[in-house]
Amino acid sequence: RDSDKWAQVDAWFSEKLAPEDSDLKYTLANNIDQGLPAHDVSALQGKMLAIFIRMSRAVRVLEIGTLGGYSTIWMARALPPHGSVTTIEFNEHHAEVARQNINKAGLAERVTLHIGAALDVLPTLKAPFDLIFIDADKVNNPHYLEWAIKLSQQGTVIVGDNTVRGGGVIDSSSDDPNVKGLREFVQMISEDERLEATAVQTVGEKGWDGFVMAIVKAR
Ligand code: DHB
Ligand code: MG
Repeated sequence: RDSDKWAQVDAWFSEKLAPEDSDLKYTLANNIDQGLPAHDVSALQGKMLAIFIRMSRAVRVLEIGTLGGYSTIWMARALPPHGSVTTIEFNEHHAEVARQNINKAGLAERVTLHIGAALDVLPTLKAPFDLIFIDADKVNNPHYLEWAIKLSQQGTVIVGDNTVRGGGVIDSSSDDPNVKGLREFVQMISEDERLEATAVQTVGEKGWDGFVMAIVKAR
């Protein structure tokens, strides 16, 4: 099957280019042990986020949707010593597991974890962020985009995860609230003169999905 092949290719590239150390392996195992859904980014995708951070010389990173902190760890590691990741998780149990994983990885000082609804936490954060990773409930993506722009500056990179959903994103008649949220998110980006954006479809161990990425040109 094609999807088996995608996973095999991911495994081959991961081993070569994005090998997981014991802290990343522990994080994935701990997440499974504690019943978290396997919605983490892949190792190669975590490495891609890390490379975006380096490319954009990001110092302050914002993540909406921590889950177990796997992407948080990839991003925190890519930052310079004075850098930080501010990450927001709605689910208290997920946040507790993320806290364990981040502590074990020795990154507690570089990561600020907020527990609560992102739409309650976002108004309390100090701007600007240099890179913003949107990876929470897709229903609220339009609101997260508005906040991402408010908390940005010129040159801020905004990355949205899970924007393809096995092709579901192009179904204009879908009543899946996640699909609707993603479609509105893309529509808003397309109409916003402050943003320049693209989308990249991905296949791999996570199936068929993709990213939308935007840069804030001016504000
Ligand atoms: C889902 C959410 C994610 O962030 C992800 O990476 C994969 C799946 C989901 O809600 O189905
Ligand atoms: Mg995701």
